[in-house]
Order: sequence, then structure tokens, then C-alpha cells
Amino acid sequence: MEDISKLIDKYRGSHGGLIPLLQEAQDQAGYLSRETLEQIAEGMKLSLAKVLGVTTFYSQFHLKPRGKNIIRICMGTACHVRGGASIMAKLEEELGIKTGETTKDLEFTLESVACIGACGLAPVMSINDDIHGKLTPEKIPEILAKYRRQEAV
Ligand code: FES
Repeated sequence: MEDISKLIDKYRGSHGGLIPLLQEAQDQAGYLSRETLEQIAEGMKLSLAKVLGVTTFYSQFHLKPRGKNIIRICMGTACHVRGGASIMAKLEEELGIKTGETTKDLEFTLESVACIGACGLAPVMSINDDIHGKLTPEKIPEILAKYRRQEAV
């Protein structure tokens, strides 16, 4: 967290510096902790409420730790019609978390999104930059295992 003060120095007094500062702070830690937000508010001479307001307005900011692997399950119409909800249910069961949560070991974060532009492959999910299509609940454990293995290597 000591680098936060360097970041604050970089943006202190700059007009419109709050958002890039928050982005860089998040890039460092993966999320914005309460402590970090307090330091930023103090350093930028802003109220904590103002800083919190910005972080909740922009969806790219995360106030809780995130997993190393970000799973986004598509809940767009094509995916929904082709069983997206059953894929979501299987992911929640396998990971032991609900959508919007992160596993305790910080391996996976599970999110739902609207159409990710691969409707022909519905139902679809992305894991990090990879698209997985034509999913069935039975395929989920095997796919997750590949990412778990990657982490172990
Ligand atoms: S609706 Fe899921 S990819 Fe388009």
C-alpha cells in the first residue's frame, strides 16, 4: 500500500485526476480497499463520500477482492433461451459462490453479463479472455479444472 502515496503525489492537484488515480490504484491491488479509498480521499482533499460515489458510478471499479480468473456468464437472450441459467447454476454449485462473488481462495470471480457477441455459440461464458461456447452443465467441471491447473503451474 505504500505505493499509493506515490500515486497520490502523481495526481495531486490535477484536474480530473481522481479517475485515473483510482484506476492505477486498482491495477496495483486488483481492487480498491476501504483503506485505499480513505488514503486517496485524504490525499486528494476530497470527501470519502465523493470518492465512493465515483467508484460506485463507474462499473470498472471493484471494492472487493477479485479472483485471478474472471468468469462472465452470458445472460443475453440467445444464451438464456439455450439454458444459460442452468450453466450459471452449475458454476455456482461448482465454485460454492453466488453470481457477483469471489471464491475464498481468490481463484475465481463469477459475474453475469448481457450479450457478449458470440450468440451463435450460445450458451456462452468467458473466462478471462477466452470464450467458451455451446456449454452444457456437464462441461463446466472440466473447463474450470483447466484454469485451476493453470494456477498451479
Ligand atoms: S446472448 Fe449470449 S452471446 Fe449473445
